[in-house]
Amino acid sequence: MVSGNQIRQKYLDFFKDRGHTVIPSAPLVPENDPTTLFTSSGMQPLVQNLLGQPHPSGKLLVNSQKCIRTQDIEEVGDNRHITFFEMLGNWSLGDYFKKEQLSYFFEFLTKELGLPKEKLTVTVFEGNNQIPRDNESAMIWKDLGVPEGRIFYYGVNKNWWSRSGIPENMPVGEPGGPDSEVFFEFTQVEHNQKFGDKCHPNCDCGRFLEIGNSVFMQYVKQIDGTFKELPQKNVDFGGGLERLTAAVNNDPDIFKTDLFWPIIKSLNIDYEQNQTEARIISDHIKAATFLMAEGVEPHNKGRGYVLRRLIRRAVFKLETLGFPALHDIRTVSESVIKTYLSLYFEQRHLYEIFADIGAEVDKFQSTIHKGNIILINQKIDDEAAFNLFQSYGFPFELTQEIARKKGIKLEKAKFEMMLKIHQDLSRTAGRGMFKGGLQDASEITTRYHTATHLLHASLRKILGDHVSQKGSNITGERLRFDFSHDRKLSAEQLGSIESLVNKKIDENIKVEKLEMKKDEALKLGALAFFPEKYPEVTSIYKIGDFSLELCGGPHVGSTGQIQKIKIIKEESVSHGVRRIYATALFPQK
Ligand code: SER
Repeated sequence: MVSGNQIRQKYLDFFKDRGHTVIPSAPLVPENDPTTLFTSSGMQPLVQNLLGQPHPSGKLLVNSQKCIRTQDIEEVGDNRHITFFEMLGNWSLGDYFKKEQLSYFFEFLTKELGLPKEKLTVTVFEGNNQIPRDNESAMIWKDLGVPEGRIFYYGVNKNWWSRSGIPENMPVGEPGGPDSEVFFEFTQVEHNQKFGDKCHPNCDCGRFLEIGNSVFMQYVKQIDGTFKELPQKNVDFGGGLERLTAAVNNDPDIFKTDLFWPIIKSLNIDYEQNQTEARIISDHIKAATFLMAEGVEPHNKGRGYVLRRLIRRAVFKLETLGFPALHDIRTVSESVIKTYLSLYFEQRHLYEIFADIGAEVDKFQSTIHKGNIILINQKIDDEAAFNLFQSYGFPFELTQEIARKKGIKLEKAKFEMMLKIHQDLSRTAGRGMFKGGLQDASEITTRYHTATHLLHASLRKILGDHVSQKGSNITGERLRFDFSHDRKLSAEQLGSIESLVNKKIDENIKVEKLEMKKDEALKLGALAFFPEKYPEVTSIYKIGDFSLELCGGPHVGSTGQIQKIKIIKEESVSHGVRRIYATALFPQK
């Protein structure tokens, strides 16, 4: 058995020998990225560098990045989907491109790892109305010795990569590009007969496993929806370490690799008999342990909620198997720490996480206990199952199990439908309530919202009337404002903008809300982010004679309530669009 540690090391050494600098894994909890809960790919911490900002370690980088992908949680249980994984990554930031990348990776697979050529299948981008077909990559693969019959073309759903997925879903300023994937074909897998000759690399039958993805990140999304070439052509490669380890050992079950097997063993159950449960428990507790090591605590929302869900699903699986969850979960977590001890964990984690994960399991068990008592005394039906889930987080599967013992059948589809209706309702309520790019309707975000109007007006006074808003985003900690302008702002300009906003705050000007026809408002010179978005009769916010903007609110009553702001960062988002971050020290209530 070739170990995951060996493969990781071989990969880092291979690229180091070819001029790459090894950079450390970034944390799972992103440092400066409020747009996402977790680091889910190696390129995530490097977005600015792919867009052109120089990286302190140079143009050629390599690492193994800790990643969490939560969209796969429901799929965990098969032989290849996992929540926590390591992504081996190498990058060329405007240095080499397709030829070198595909040749390097092919050499790594066939020479370093010794994978037989005949077991590799590759895919390339078939092109669309904007981006040409990637014949170049296909040619390179052919020259490397991949027969034509093993080169497949796919569209944007499979062979285009950006953080937001297909081109239409990408926000302005996001980099992306066509990619080329490599699949390993396992010998001993009888692929699902139903697919017959139609089976192809991206088919889900388990015959092929994707082991690496070379993204040719050379485009950036424009405001008008088209794509523009980035000033530099980048390579962003990512390959799952666990999957590569499975391929090298020619066993399609990644839970059998040494990156999982000790964790499975710690469960002390018959793996073959309880495969799905064993996979879910070990996967979830592995991800949970990594999150806890980074200080994430179980909670009802955000990252803490993901952590709570992982632990609860694992406890639930153990309970259904009839195992003592508390003891077992701690043991599984301990084995995770031991598997990665010198690399990602320290000794102290052994007792710290032991205690914290134990406390969460305890809490959940008392929920289960409460739910059980309620269910003993009341009628069990779909509504009861849903209410228990909503009020106590009591898992549907558990209610279903209890109901089954009483001869009552509850359907998951019905539960899911109720959940979806509930989620849609909350989403709609959320959208109605939090306008203007606000994350929540607290007083602080309202103040930041008014501050963006002052900032917008100040930018136009200092930089000129070509400035217009391109986006905004507000959290309880800061405002972010995107606007059109084609060059970096000087320190002097930033200073004048900040002073002007603060002067208007000092003047404590009344913020007035007026209702008028959209056309009239635009005639008066009111600014509008997306004029077509507003109704015919619309609300306008007027701040003295300084600012006039179409807007749904909410805003403070007068600018004095905002408190002075500080511009903390100015950067480029895409060609012709700049971004400002500003914060204010609001008095604590
Ligand atoms: N960013 C690409 C991926 O996540 C390649 O690293 O697949």
